[in-house]
Amino acid sequence: MIYIKDLKEHVGKEITLKGWLYNKRSSGKVKFLILRDGTGYLQCVLFKGNFAEDVFDNAEKLTQESSFEITGKIKEEPRAIGGFEMDVTSYSIIQIAEEYPITPKEHGIEFLIDNRHLWVRSKKQHAILKIRHRIVKAIRDFFDERGFVLFDGPIITPNASEGTSTLFETPYFDLGKAYLTQSSQLYAEAGAMSFGKVYTFGPTFRAEKSKTRRHLTEFWMVEPEMAFYNLDDDMDLAEEFLEYIVQCVLQDRREELEILERDISKLEVIKRPFPRISYDEAVKILHAEGRDFVWGDDLGAPDEAIISGKYDKPVMVHRYPAEVKAFYMKRDPENPKVALAVDVLAPEGYGEIIGGSQREDEISKLEERIKEHELPMEFFNWYLDLRKYGSVPHSGFGLGLERTVTWICGIDHLREAIPFPRMIYRNTP
Ligand code: 4AD
Ligand code: MG
Repeated sequence: MIYIKDLKEHVGKEITLKGWLYNKRSSGKVKFLILRDGTGYLQCVLFKGNFAEDVFDNAEKLTQESSFEITGKIKEEPRAIGGFEMDVTSYSIIQIAEEYPITPKEHGIEFLIDNRHLWVRSKKQHAILKIRHRIVKAIRDFFDERGFVLFDGPIITPNASEGTSTLFETPYFDLGKAYLTQSSQLYAEAGAMSFGKVYTFGPTFRAEKSKTRRHLTEFWMVEPEMAFYNLDDDMDLAEEFLEYIVQCVLQDRREELEILERDISKLEVIKRPFPRISYDEAVKILHAEGRDFVWGDDLGAPDEAIISGKYDKPVMVHRYPAEVKAFYMKRDPENPKVALAVDVLAPEGYGEIIGGSQREDEISKLEERIKEHELPMEFFNWYLDLRKYGSVPHSGFGLGLERTVTWICGIDHLREAIPFPRMIYRNTP
């Protein structure tokens, strides 16, 4: 098989391509068929004189998204889409498409998501999903090149890790209930005690009852976990990681960023070091902006927007009030009211893309927290074991893939950042 993306190796040769009709136009003696093969677009030109009349006329039957095979000689043509053109010698129709529901005219978002299985063929969606793929590769390369071992957690779990309010429940044979994972972190901690540095990367589930542009009920999260890292080491890694991801996309997905009309200058500045401010300092910023914010509350989306609006790089907000954070976070020995936590807020109002922390490594304190959070102790025995057998300081974080894709693509809703989005009011197609 030859693909459009490789045409420069085929200039001057006759080749066969397969794909779908993106568009066509004709003027008596010539027909232009724009072929789309998933890797690019090619203008295929049929001159009337080169064909039997019925064969030439038959090309009119090709409707938008009809599938066909086409043969001809490739030449460079700077004026044509993609920079090449095919002088067609023959073609054969595979299937004539029914009237395609997605046309170049404007469609409502609900209609488009109902047709997500077709919408993914559109240029903009195609560009977003190609950027997503590049980000996934960057994530894996980053950790693989730095000696991290892939250590995926289970999807079916017996307990909550990120609070009990967003658990998806499922019946589980004679054992009663099980839950879909909210985070693989607790398992990653077991991995870190075995391998030193690990990461998990997979689907994550939260029964988010909120209907916002930043929440999916099923999303992908990558979670590195490192033995002997403190919160500062954790932040160092997070900023190196984000810089790496953005630079990979800038290097390899320029064309897609252009299709999305992304302001590339906003991505080019994503270079270390990133600003680091404490929660206390964040509260001061909010007060200076006239916001009525009480110390101890979690930062909401509007608060995050004000804080990140002060910087053109991601900002790392650390040391949150322990009360609003998860049970496993270590308290700051210098101020036990705050947890050694960090949230990374993306610029341009995109909000939190990373949540992380140093973990509680003392068994008695961890037991206390599990009780305070009213979590079932019996399910945490294995987790407590990690503090009995060679406990060490350790840290990690979780990066939400779709939030990262949304930010880098400069789009406004997470639903376009995953092939088939799952949200409170949507579980199809
Ligand atoms: O801040 P969160 O809840 O942190 C954890 O789950 C930790 N266990 C991670 C760790 O330390 N290993 O989630 C981490 C990230 C968020 O910053 C966000 O990017 C993403 O996961 N996220 C969501 N993305 C889409 N839809 C949702 N409902 C999300 N909830 C969290
Ligand atoms: Mg968080």
